Amino acid sequence: MKTNKPDPAIIVIFGVTGDLVKRKLFPALYRLIKANLLDDNTVIVGITRQNISTQDMLADLISGYPEYDESAIEFLKDRFEVQTMNVTESSEYKALLEKLNKMEEDKGMCMNRLFYLSIPPQVFGPIVRFLGENGLNRKCQHNDADSRLLIEKPFGYDLKSAEKLITETTEHFKEEQIFRIDHYLAKETVQNILNFRFNNAIFESLWNSNHISRIDITATETIGIEGRSIFYEQTGALRDLVQSHLLQLMSVITMEEPDTLESDDIHESKLALLNSVVQIPSDKVNKLAVRGQYQSYKTEVNNPKSNIETFAAIEVSINNPRWMGVPIVIKTGKSLDKKQTEIRVVFKRNDETEKQTLHNSLTFRIQPNEGIDIELIVKKPGLDNELQNVDMDFSYSKFFSADSSPDAYERVLVDAIRGDHTLFATNEEVLASWKIVDPILYHWSRETKDLQIYNDNSSGPKNIPDWLNPNYKI
Ligand code: BG6
Repeated sequence: MKTNKPDPAIIVIFGVTGDLVKRKLFPALYRLIKANLLDDNTVIVGITRQNISTQDMLADLISGYPEYDESAIEFLKDRFEVQTMNVTESSEYKALLEKLNKMEEDKGMCMNRLFYLSIPPQVFGPIVRFLGENGLNRKCQHNDADSRLLIEKPFGYDLKSAEKLITETTEHFKEEQIFRIDHYLAKETVQNILNFRFNNAIFESLWNSNHISRIDITATETIGIEGRSIFYEQTGALRDLVQSHLLQLMSVITMEEPDTLESDDIHESKLALLNSVVQIPSDKVNKLAVRGQYQSYKTEVNNPKSNIETFAAIEVSINNPRWMGVPIVIKTGKSLDKKQTEIRVVFKRNDETEKQTLHNSLTFRIQPNEGIDIELIVKKPGLDNELQNVDMDFSYSKFFSADSSPDAYERVLVDAIRGDHTLFATNEEVLASWKIVDPILYHWSRETKDLQIYNDNSSGPKNIPDWLNPNYKI
């Protein structure tokens, strides 16, 4: 991967002992270092309330890496340190500020300060407030580098709590200092969607309800909740994937063409799209939303009464001239029979093919086997005029080398250090997404009858409405 190195930064990780840091953030840092893509002066400070030495913490974070690169590990050893602190104690932030100032003095330069919050939402508010009250929200001592907040989802629990969280945050940090991570937006294949849509005129001219019959946005996983019982019991599939990742994907695939592909214009288009989604009224939830729970879930979370969905599907309508009448079907689930994240756009048939079950479709395979697939209709060789669907398949792995695609978290880190907001969700987008899912969540919190139990490693709930069948109405 060839790119300009971002400016030097101090990356302060709140929740360094957490699962996400170990699974995603640290491997991303490691790969950036290995590829020589971080500035030499980079410093990483891991915050924890546990009394753990820097050496032990680092050993734990890098354990299990498949390829162990000696020089990358040396880089980390020289630039990583643990700071033990009680994050709910305001006075401890003074010490943190002094520490960061001292680090910059030693290096003889100001650096961008990135506060990465990988912590439960309950402690989020106090941490942001204490950072602000203790001057950690300001530019560095010489005013030439910025202080930024990098926040992991979930951004709240529902619309109300998200509004509260946003108010708390913006009291201390300006919107331009806040980077709300949605790692799906940073996936190479997702970034490609915008470029693909607006640079391939053959598709853009067909991108509307005259030519498209349905869009399916699917993210199924074979894994279960991977030991995250507490988190998942408070979250569920609709909050975990639909409210964030999948509605973001929907906005990218359906938004109007922005004036430019600059961050502000893209966000404006995405927001307009999210605001034009029709809210599902309470009395239609049972018709337009499906939920399920995998069989072994209740035992796994040790809650025989759990009402939490591990599978969620909704049919969304967009109330604008481009998409009027086109069903957008969003589906996600855990412990299913395949891992598949993709967006499939199905085109309407013309009269000739009306009687056949053939169609054109365009599928963005986000993962695995990243690529783009186009289904065409061709004549079968032979004396009769028989038609059939064939695939034209573009696969990233065949065209590009493996190291040309940075992992989503590598991109997140580099963009945050550079101060580029394009791939981060704005506060307005977050609120617009909560407005879409809130009525469903509310309904589900009061009803239990519709929760279908499905077999582990199966295709999910059996009792599904027509719209959830990918071949319906195409
Ligand atoms: C996370 C969710 O945001 O995304 C997880 O909290 C989910 O539950 C994960 O497994 C999926 O990410 P990816 O990149 O593996 O598709």
